[in-house]
Amino acid sequence: MQANKGWVAFGYAAIGCAALGAALAVAAPIGPGAPEDLVELVTPKDNPTTDAKVALGKKLYEDTRLSSDNTVACKTCHDPDKGFTDRLPTSKGVGGQTGKRNAPTVLSALFLDTQFLDGRAPNLEAQAKLPILNPIEMGMKSPEEVVAKLKGIPEYVDAFQKVFGREINYDDLGRAIAAFERTVLSSDAPIDRFLAGDDKALTPAQRRGWSLFNGKARCNTCHGFNASYPLFSDNKFHNIGIAARNKNFSDMALRAEKIVRAGDLDQIDELALNSEFSDLGRFLVTQNKAQIGAFKTNHLRDIALTSPYMHNGELKTLWDVVDHYNKGGIPNPFLDGGIQRLGLSEDQISDLVELLGGAFTSSRFAADGKAELERQRKLAASNRPERDTDAAMGKTMGRGDAPLDPDLSQKDPAFIGGRAPKY
Ligand code: HEC
Ligand code: HEC
Repeated sequence: MQANKGWVAFGYAAIGCAALGAALAVAAPIGPGAPEDLVELVTPKDNPTTDAKVALGKKLYEDTRLSSDNTVACKTCHDPDKGFTDRLPTSKGVGGQTGKRNAPTVLSALFLDTQFLDGRAPNLEAQAKLPILNPIEMGMKSPEEVVAKLKGIPEYVDAFQKVFGREINYDDLGRAIAAFERTVLSSDAPIDRFLAGDDKALTPAQRRGWSLFNGKARCNTCHGFNASYPLFSDNKFHNIGIAARNKNFSDMALRAEKIVRAGDLDQIDELALNSEFSDLGRFLVTQNKAQIGAFKTNHLRDIALTSPYMHNGELKTLWDVVDHYNKGGIPNPFLDGGIQRLGLSEDQISDLVELLGGAFTSSRFAADGKAELERQRKLAASNRPERDTDAAMGKTMGRGDAPLDPDLSQKDPAFIGGRAPKY
């Protein structure tokens, strides 16, 4: 194990351990200049992080005995060797059942304002208690069943007693797992070094990509970066036109409204993972019509490692992601106003992919990230299913493709405000 080293870049932490397994065994010490204040801010006062608690949380995270048939652990779907995801379009739980959503990474999840792709859990403690009981993930029947099972395992009886000073209970299980997750940080990516002033940390292509990201490609409007939100996510919910093909969102929302019980987290968890209503996203949680098909802006740290992309895993490569945005998403009545065609050339697409696929990868995952990007490059060389150059360049109408720099004074007023002319 390498010595822990601090990384000073907009207060972002480095763990700096070559051997990941070893790094996760203990609460990762935060290096000099790292955002101890940020980590402290996101750590609940009633669940302080201690080494013993983290060790217990890690054990629980890896333990398949938390599932009904002893085959699935948190780690199954959030595997440290796969960027803390499973690299499947949508995850597989007990009995080989496939859910409707893609597993996001646990890396840096501690900094997210809400947990799950629709934000239905307020924090890591609440999040951890759901998959264990979800029938298609870990399949346990009730908190009581989980606690009884753990009470039959002497090492847990001792560990819970030592850490919490009381008998095993379900809330403490959530606390231990959450404490472990707060040590799972991505860090020390080239972009951190670049933002701290090292121009050479990014390749010329990545630097051009960064200009596009914050300019013509408009990524920063939702994936912006600042010192208190160092994740490239606004933590808000947007419909960016994923899963909108051939779907009647309004009809689906009306039907969902009839069955969803507001505030019933267990029911919403099941609908999200195991029903056709999954694509309604944030709407299932809030029943707010403006949020139909809206999902949380994913964070972009270590994004090279966590393909396939989006809430349903429908985009296989970073090229597909950029092609999707370039054409202005998939039209639907609830598309976020921030999504419009971008007019990016092939060279610009390539610069943006170099940025995403290299600059955001933690140093300890650099080799894996590189291999993943090359795998995707091969795939994209022969298959670019999302590419629609005509739409991206504004040669087709009807998909919200306003001119990039609209000069409304020259426009026939009849065509302003979504009334596209028929060509
Ligand atoms: C069967 C696969 C599977 C298992 C097992 C599983 N997860 Fe997940 N996890 C997912 C999927 C899929 C999502 C996204 C679901 C959604 O947003 O509706 C998710 C979401 C999350 C998130 C939210 C991250 C974010 O970006 O919002 C965290 C944290 C997480 N899981 C941790 C855990 C923990 C801890 C466990 C074990 C107690 C666990 N998961 C078990 C598949 C799984
Ligand atoms: C209007 C807000 C918005 C803009 C602008 C935007 N994104 Fe996103 N991004 C999102 C949301 C929301 C999601 C999740 C959508 C979903 O799963 O349905 C997302 C998901 C992603 C993902 C997938 C992450 C994962 O783990 O699956 C990548 C990569 C990404 N965006 C990159 C970009 C890039 C590059 C740009 C600029 C070309 C961009 N985004 C512009 C809101 C936005």
